Amino acid sequence: MIRRLEDSEAGVLTVRASAKVNLHLGVGAPREDGFHPLDTVYQAVSLYDDVSVAESSEWAVETVLSPYLAGTALPGPGENIVDRVGELLGGGERGASVRIGKSIPVAGGMAGGSADAAAALVALDRLWDLGTPDEELLALAARLGSDVPFALIGGTARGLGRGEQVVPVADHGDYAWVVVPDPRGLSTPAVYRRYDELFPDAPAEPASASRVLEALSYGDPGRLALALHNDLEPAAIDLLPDLEALLERGEAEGALRGIVSGSGPTCVFLCESTEAAQAVADGLGAVRPLTLLAVGPVAGAHVVEVL
Ligand code: C5P
Repeated sequence: MIRRLEDSEAGVLTVRASAKVNLHLGVGAPREDGFHPLDTVYQAVSLYDDVSVAESSEWAVETVLSPYLAGTALPGPGENIVDRVGELLGGGERGASVRIGKSIPVAGGMAGGSADAAAALVALDRLWDLGTPDEELLALAARLGSDVPFALIGGTARGLGRGEQVVPVADHGDYAWVVVPDPRGLSTPAVYRRYDELFPDAPAEPASASRVLEALSYGDPGRLALALHNDLEPAAIDLLPDLEALLERGEAEGALRGIVSGSGPTCVFLCESTEAAQAVADGLGAVRPLTLLAVGPVAGAHVVEVL
């Protein structure tokens, strides 16, 4: 069927970006600029935010939450990371009507804000016909946040520096995840601060991602499960101690391994297959109201609709 476009819809462009999990998150002692040196391996997983942009003389951003995120606190007017994208790309002079359709848990350690920033970069660059070269988009992404370059490229990638220097990693596996969001949320800076308190003698060099990189070369979830590593997990658990019991419960329900995602508090469970993941999600349903299924790796920011 050929879809007839209504005038009011004309010129709407939608870009999708995915959530991430950190398969390895090695964290070193804070640098002079306050950021922590990282050796991390990101994997993009199939939870998505969609950013739609349309021509407008004014700048306006609205957020529409998936039903399961209802009640989540959102940034106030002018405080969304997407507002910064508009300023950086448009110099504060261009207008657009922006709608963020959120499905990625907010303040959850899955880089939902970074996904919105990456999707907005791609969408506004197209809307305003700027033709920004990829290297420049990546440099702008790094200014917006440590995880934003990865949200642009997606797939599986190693992140160095403060996480913004991304190198794609060959990943031929398919991985099934159960994602358990936590409505309490955690502030990323607060988790890093707790990490500094818990590990005042952290080495300057972050723990190497080599075990995870080797496991990925086999494409085998069992090997990857053994190699998963997150230096921020003790800090997240120190702030929200009941996460530990959730991780144990997921493993008791059949997950190969449960870890806190990034700075948390979302917990993610790597499973042998999508069927196994469904069984783990069903089991965790007894203790948590919301469990989501995801697969990875998936694509980075990409156009899904042009109306
Ligand atoms: O780069 P981004 O804006 O996502 O970082 C948010 C906060 O997380 C930083 O202000 C910092 O407190 C902390 N952070 C860090 N080291 C990193 C990345 C983030 O300390 N490598």
